[in-house]
Amino acid sequence: MGVVVVAAGSGTRLGASRPKAFVELRGATILEHALRGVLESAPGELAVVVPEELVGEAQQILARLDLAGTRASVVAGGAERSDSVNAGLRALTDASRHVLVHDAARCLTPVAVFERVLAALRAGAEGVVPGVPVVDTIKVVDASGHIVSTPLRKSLRAVQTPQGFARDVLAAAHAAGAAATDDAALVEALGYAVLVVEGDERALKVTTPDDLARAERLLAGA
Ligand code: CTP
Ligand code: MG
Repeated sequence: MGVVVVAAGSGTRLGASRPKAFVELRGATILEHALRGVLESAPGELAVVVPEELVGEAQQILARLDLAGTRASVVAGGAERSDSVNAGLRALTDASRHVLVHDAARCLTPVAVFERVLAALRAGAEGVVPGVPVVDTIKVVDASGHIVSTPLRKSLRAVQTPQGFARDVLAAAHAAGAAATDDAALVEALGYAVLVVEGDERALKVTTPDDLARAERLLAGA
């Protein structure tokens, strides 16, 4: 199995002085926390995608970690998340039949989530994403702010990463070149079935300063 970790975003909403994955969280960068979690799932190969100017720093982070046989590489990302995923996919060999795409910003994702995604892929799913029930009632609104519809809350899931796919399915989805905020949407658009497995609250995406504080509390066990 191959894993692409996307860490090439700038972190605009976090508003720190460095790109988000290189911000410290209790003594280690967000990227280092994320990679430790990924390596627990023992991938055959790993592509870490970072801003071009931080490739060297990411290589130093990898050098400090126990790779335990994982073939790892660091590559520069692109302007959009999907460009960064593509760069990561190109860095993987053809050896991996399954590929997981993971946001470095979900740096505290438990290994059990990786295992659930992988188990479903190995059982034959074409695409698998972790998801959690939503607590708010979600409205679809139009450009003027008026409500168009109210989807049934129990049918909704907030999805997380790692998102796993058969490698050729993900490559075809990205080759189609559409824009989306997650990989599953591209795969769904091609008509493949994507399964949602149980996610985890600890797979939160560090997006705002409040999220960073929450991640700090989680790490502290508070
Ligand atoms: N990402 C990436 N390349 C991009 C944009 C995003 O690799 N061009 C990665 C981020 O590093 C992050 C994940 O995709 O791990 C999810 O993106 P997001 O949380 O939106 O991170 P940023 O784009 O960095 O944050 P913001 O949107 O606030 O600028
Ligand atoms: Mg973004």
